Amino acid sequence: MTKDVFILNSSDGSESIELPVESGAIGPDVIDISKLYEEKNVFTYDPGFVSTASCHSKITYIDGDEGILLYRGYPVEQLAKSSHFIEVAYLLLYGELPNKNLLNDFSSSITHHTMLNEGMLRFFNGFRYDAHPMAMLSAIVGSMSAYYHDTMDINSVHAREIFAHRIIAKLPTIAAAAYKHTVGQPFVYPRNDLGYCENLLHMFFSVPAENQEIDPVAVEALDLLFILHADHEQNCSTSTVRMAGSSGTNPYSAIAAGISALWGPAHGGANEAVLRMLEDIGSKKNIQKYIAKAKNKDDPFRLMGFGHRVYKNYDPRAKIIREMCHKVLNQKGRNNSPLLELAIELEEVALNDPYFIEKNLYPNVDFYSGIIYQALGIPTSMFTVMFAIGRTVGWVAHWREMIADPSGKISRPRQLYTGQPERDYMSLDNRA
Ligand code: ACO
Repeated sequence: MTKDVFILNSSDGSESIELPVESGAIGPDVIDISKLYEEKNVFTYDPGFVSTASCHSKITYIDGDEGILLYRGYPVEQLAKSSHFIEVAYLLLYGELPNKNLLNDFSSSITHHTMLNEGMLRFFNGFRYDAHPMAMLSAIVGSMSAYYHDTMDINSVHAREIFAHRIIAKLPTIAAAAYKHTVGQPFVYPRNDLGYCENLLHMFFSVPAENQEIDPVAVEALDLLFILHADHEQNCSTSTVRMAGSSGTNPYSAIAAGISALWGPAHGGANEAVLRMLEDIGSKKNIQKYIAKAKNKDDPFRLMGFGHRVYKNYDPRAKIIREMCHKVLNQKGRNNSPLLELAIELEEVALNDPYFIEKNLYPNVDFYSGIIYQALGIPTSMFTVMFAIGRTVGWVAHWREMIADPSGKISRPRQLYTGQPERDYMSLDNRA
């Protein structure tokens, strides 16, 4: 809704433009600058998009100063306490909580899309035994466009629907196949009598010779982590999915682009980096040394799992995960986990350090998630893959919202060119 105008004046007062201001349901207003170049021949400059809204969205709202995260208006704390991942997936995709029938239908559709085309399973044999699971995940998801041709028409509502169910259902199967490849075990097929997280644990830890008993606390922990990772508005990987998708590419390619963006240590790769950092720190006596490294501008080391582009307050997801982390470790009889103790001490030291206080650096969602995954027996290299399973729901919801938006345009940022002005080509003989 346009409510006001913002008047922009040049410094000498010779130029001025009225820009419409739009208000959302909650949160800061936005100044619509889309006519700025056409009318005044200037661009805006906002590296990292810190002040730029790239789209209208009804999916997720974050207030980083207050530590608020809402999925379709519902506080994530309430969903974490009372809902479950499949219901949250429905909510993010369709905008409302489902009734019993809708939930049963959705859940059954996800269950019945978990198998992979056998040809795709053979791809895994081509990867080196030590290939990173994120490399396998992005390659396999990208290759889905070579198998599932019936869902390539992005203009078909039906095809988009099947794609959404298919990719959410198959991500755990692909993740499990990547895991089995790294540990040299045969692939274990999904079972339709199991729920989403139970099935994932079954495919990871059963072997053809023996079914692994499924631990209900592990199921509860995974379900919670997937809820908390399901969406986070226009983060780096989601914006990547939107940007790739804006060209009209097929949805599997757009999601594969998002997976690649998630892998980086400044984003989803941080959960893996946190665990490696804790292992490097090794013991409480080294904490001060690493805190000093994190504060030293000449040292590239950063305290992994600390800081967030949007939250300048405690990440609400980190609070919930911290509790679950204790529950999992208590249940596993590892109350005295040295890694958890180290993490708690590190958190305490950082939260009381003036550098972290002044810069509003708090633990983020990844600070504790890795410790939970490790306690569940999931190897460190799989942590970002686990994040991707939950986040796929958000990527799909945003991709669908973007495709259905009639005002959608290809994403095409501009730049401030700082290279050479125009010059003439010089033949090789005349160059110094
Ligand atoms: N350790 C030490 N210093 C830090 C850290 C950190 N983890 N994070 C930020 N800072 C400092 C920066 O050096 C900068 O200092 P300066 O103002 O003196 O230059 C200041 O805090 C602001 O940091 P920016 O990098 O400008 O903030 P930005 O919003 O661009 O970065 C990011 C956010 C990338 C998450 C950053 O905090 C970081 O690298 N954290 C560690 C990696 C991490 O945990 N990532 C996971 C994010 S959550 C997710 O994606 C699921």
